[in-house]
Amino acid sequence: MNDKQVVAQYALNYVQNGMTIGLGTGSTANCFIEALAQRYQQENLKITVVASSLVSQLNAQHLGLPLIAIEHIEKLDMYVDGADEVAPDMTLLKGRGSDLVKEKLLVEAAEQFIVLIDSSKQVQHIGDNFPIPAEVLPFAWQLVQHKMRNAGAQVSLRETGSGLAVTSCGNLVLDLVFNAELSTTALNNLLNATPGIVEHGIFQGLADIILLADKGKVTPITSEKK
Ligand code: A5P
Repeated sequence: MNDKQVVAQYALNYVQNGMTIGLGTGSTANCFIEALAQRYQQENLKITVVASSLVSQLNAQHLGLPLIAIEHIEKLDMYVDGADEVAPDMTLLKGRGSDLVKEKLLVEAAEQFIVLIDSSKQVQHIGDNFPIPAEVLPFAWQLVQHKMRNAGAQVSLRETGSGLAVTSCGNLVLDLVFNAELSTTALNNLLNATPGIVEHGIFQGLADIILLADKGKVTPITSEKK
């Protein structure tokens, strides 16, 4: 098993009968979906799952997990997802997969947010390895770009091989690189307060448990939040 599979397997320790569980997006989240589906089949577990993206939805569906739509939930017992970066204070950067809106909605709705990472995700500062993604309303992207440039960011409109990246909510994604003078808290506040940004990739003060896998060993890191 690689570290993503090891940490996904470990996360099953938090699963209990009767839970509604949010499924994240990405290769680590996929490992969790597979591990969960296996346990569901083997133990006849009574759970319900909600997906954060079409990819995770199709995956869960294919593996026979009992899915309900995000429209039908008011809260979750647990949301399990990966991350692109994790800072020492447990702030996360997410959004390489473009779909931020459902991810943050499910995080906020969850009693517990469990983050699955391997050691490659650990950084000193958010933004060390990746730009900060901001999902923007299509008609607002140039206004947001202007505001971000004034705040010192280098801005690029995310593209895929076949054109502009469009999220499942029909929005565009701006990738932002800020100079190191702005703290993560200041950036979080700036992005939260910018009209036209529907959601962004800084997840500050939201993770409850980070499960860190390193060479086959998992270390749980917990917060005092909630
Ligand atoms: C999806 O939008 C992201 O927030 C993912 O959680 C992130 O990209 C992690 O993906 P991997 O598990 O594939 O690294």
